[in-house]
Amino acid sequence: MANSLYEFGMIGLGVMGRNLLLNMADHGFAVIGFDKDTEKAQALESSASAGTRVKGVVSLEEMISQLQKPRRVMMLVPAGKPVDDVLASLHPLLEPGDIVIDGGNSHFTDTLRRVSSMKDAGFHFMGVGVSGGEQGARTGPSIMPGGDKEAYAHVKPMLEAISAKVNGEPCVAYLGKGAAGHYVKMVHNGIEYAIMQLISESYRLLKAAGLNNDQLHQVYKEWNEGEMQSFLLEITADIFLQNDDKSGQRLVDVISDKAGSKGTGKWTSQEAMDLGVPATVIDTAVAMRTISAFKDERVEAAKVYEEPKIPVSAETKLFISQVKDALQFATIMCYAQGMAMLYNASTAHQMDIPLPEAVKVWRGGCIIRSALLGTFYAALKQAPEVPNLLLNKAVADIVKSKEHNTRAVVVQAAQAGLPAAGFMAALSYFDAYRTEKLPTNLVQAQRDYFGAHTYQRIDMPGSFHTSWQHHS
Ligand code: 6PG
Repeated sequence: MANSLYEFGMIGLGVMGRNLLLNMADHGFAVIGFDKDTEKAQALESSASAGTRVKGVVSLEEMISQLQKPRRVMMLVPAGKPVDDVLASLHPLLEPGDIVIDGGNSHFTDTLRRVSSMKDAGFHFMGVGVSGGEQGARTGPSIMPGGDKEAYAHVKPMLEAISAKVNGEPCVAYLGKGAAGHYVKMVHNGIEYAIMQLISESYRLLKAAGLNNDQLHQVYKEWNEGEMQSFLLEITADIFLQNDDKSGQRLVDVISDKAGSKGTGKWTSQEAMDLGVPATVIDTAVAMRTISAFKDERVEAAKVYEEPKIPVSAETKLFISQVKDALQFATIMCYAQGMAMLYNASTAHQMDIPLPEAVKVWRGGCIIRSALLGTFYAALKQAPEVPNLLLNKAVADIVKSKEHNTRAVVVQAAQAGLPAAGFMAALSYFDAYRTEKLPTNLVQAQRDYFGAHTYQRIDMPGSFHTSWQHHS
């Protein structure tokens, strides 16, 4: 009987659910998927590889009854209420010890709540981040599991089998307690937003220097071949060559500049504020998507305020190399801010996130995968407790080698009136972080002056208040 049962069940056979399940089947696991939509259930079976054991059903009861015990069930449904609805319908069908995995982009606070309510009901629940899109799900995603460690042991062989591999190592690892998996995925997405924003700014700057789409393709292709290799640069290079059937132009030139978002970048920014960890490049990326939506107002403002019409000053070849360095520099700031969030959240939310493992998992399969993560992984393996990547010597050496050109790019962007808020935020973060004495002593004086909020002194311990004298 046990042999005719299935080893893994999936709820939600959209693009991600179907492809993940087919990936499992390709690795020899017998799998069953449920979706209310008959077409989706059928599509699962019809797209299965020959010789694999895959079944699609339209009844949740049927799926649950055909799973080996303890049952292993993953759901890939939209975040929010749909996850709670699925859990409610699963409750009467499950038995104590069964394992339920939420593989969607759920907010980590929702996951924390569900971990505790599912535990009270006797079930194991895990929040697991999955990155890599449609292609990644089928051929090897990056997987970020967190939560119930006992449950993880039951799904580890499957997740390791289906994940991307880098140097033979799977891009999946246990990432900590509670909602750690979804927390790490949220930060991944925040970094994703920030790097995408920086690449888009580099595109604007290179366009201002006169590069056409073919040249842009060539530049990003070359950048992607060296130390800056990354998935996002790879797809960027491709994008400039894509033709549009409808207009006959390059597709990128007919796409509206209003960017959408599902909210995970905003969550990262909100959480960074709550956590008290600066994530300014991520904040800026979120804000730039927001400002992109104000198209009508921007059109009006463009009539009111003229562009400075000052060309970028460096000659083209030099400028391209400056932008290249600035992009690498600012990208490091994005990762540093995201990693600093993980470092602090690990303690603040009692998640015990193993930082080197998080970086290891991000090296392949996910949207932010890049050669840089290999450097960070090596650095963190040697010194896992570093609170900020910028304090690591190997990282500092790269940053220092790119600093001069980053300043050159920011200056030219400012003079030419080109929007480069991400680059500016990255440089400002760096300058503040590396400054031993910030001017915030004056802020403390102001707070004490108007609100008696007290201040600390540099020459003796304790809190002080002064009756400030009015001189003007
Ligand atoms: C991934 C992506 C994925 C999704 C983003 C898009 O890791 O595979 O991050 O989760 O494509 O959430 O987010 P926005 O729609 O907010 O840009």
